Amino acid sequence: MPRIKSPHLLVAESGADRAGHGLKRTMGLFHLVCFGIGAIVGTGIFVGLSSSVAEAGPAVVVSFVLAAITCVFTAFSFAELGGAIPVSGSSYSFAYAGLGETTAFLVGWCLLLEYGVSVSAVAVGWSQYVNELLDSVLGIQLPQALSAGPGDGGAVNLPAVLVIAMAAVLLVRGVRESARATAAMAVVKLAVLVAFVAIGFTAFQDGNLSPFSPTGLAGIGAGTTAAFFSYIGFDAITTAGEEAKNPRRDIPVAILVCIGLVTLLYCAVALAAIGAIGGDRVGGTPAALSHVVDEVTGSAIGGGVVAFGAVVAIASVVLAVMYGQTRILLSMSRDGLVPRVFEKVSPRTATPVAGTLIVAVVFAIPAAFAPLDAVVNLCTIGTLAIMAAVNIAVIALRRREPGLDRTFRVPLYPVMPLLGVGFCLYLSYETGVTTWLQFAVFLVAGLLVYLLYGRRNSRLGRTAEVTPAGAEREPQAV
Ligand code: ALA
Repeated sequence: MPRIKSPHLLVAESGADRAGHGLKRTMGLFHLVCFGIGAIVGTGIFVGLSSSVAEAGPAVVVSFVLAAITCVFTAFSFAELGGAIPVSGSSYSFAYAGLGETTAFLVGWCLLLEYGVSVSAVAVGWSQYVNELLDSVLGIQLPQALSAGPGDGGAVNLPAVLVIAMAAVLLVRGVRESARATAAMAVVKLAVLVAFVAIGFTAFQDGNLSPFSPTGLAGIGAGTTAAFFSYIGFDAITTAGEEAKNPRRDIPVAILVCIGLVTLLYCAVALAAIGAIGGDRVGGTPAALSHVVDEVTGSAIGGGVVAFGAVVAIASVVLAVMYGQTRILLSMSRDGLVPRVFEKVSPRTATPVAGTLIVAVVFAIPAAFAPLDAVVNLCTIGTLAIMAAVNIAVIALRRREPGLDRTFRVPLYPVMPLLGVGFCLYLSYETGVTTWLQFAVFLVAGLLVYLLYGRRNSRLGRTAEVTPAGAEREPQAV
């Protein structure tokens, strides 16, 4: 029998529907959209575009659209649950309400991949563009030993550690400060990418788009899995459930707006880059976007501006994703599934200070020492597993809690969530056998941690259930 936590109890415990809970409500729709763009647009487009184009050629636009479709099906599910259960735990809390505690713990465990490990991966991508920027603007090159991990020919990646430390400082200072910084950074990165598209299209040549799909359907499939990394993070918007001014209305809207905007942008960037210098060269060049601008403008200044945009963009992903990770741990801690230190909110800054510092230290370690591509596939499969669970949670909750106050409902239910699960399975299949095996080991480790720590310390059943009317009832056994 799954150990379920009702949505009403989740909301009541978080205090999300009343004023004066630990976190502060400071984010409006604009901030949520900026926060979403902040969490989504980063390493995937600035660094990872080369890998997706190497797989799919110009048909990478089809890959982007397929990755977006996968996200949209799931985004509807996130929107429905984010509006109905506006708490910090995001997919972890949705799984707790829909699928039970064991699945919820495993979702929380996979979130360590999606949020935590991706912070490390993204910080490594940041370091590459910092080098590019210093080189093109000041002619300085950081010593390889201090700017890349051992897998990339260095010793320790200090810039990657630095960006995590800066994000931690901002997050500790307060959500309003972090949200302001994220909004400013989102505007800068959108402006840089739009300028990139405009410059790229001045050198557009039709011939560079053919052959359109040199590697056929197999290449498009592999390109979709690679492109998917650049969408990871849209669900981070739901972690702001307790800090949004009007979460029930604004969270669903913000998610859908972000995915639409980002897809248009990614397709335009890919077409501009390939149209300007051809798919083979985009696919074979690491900091491809800077390179395209250098070549089109015939000077290193444009490339420097793009590198600046990438540095800002990727820093904002680190900030937003670390924020999400700390809020999820806060929810898990509230439920007793991880140590209580993660739920302590400082009365002075209204932020989880200790939790933020622990997250920063723990994820700075892989950032300092791991190569980017070693962790990207694992992040991808972990995120796909979470998304599949959220789609299934929508179906489970519609059956169990038909009367739940839903401000947004998935259209074409249950076709959409089922298609969402199908797409997630397809993309997971494309990550390859090595990633599946790594992921299986990771899940078994998670199950052991749950059985040895989480289940024993769980607070489920120690508090009375809450119904919509506020009357208490016994915890549900379903
Ligand atoms: N989507 C995020 C990025 O591309 C993880 O950096």
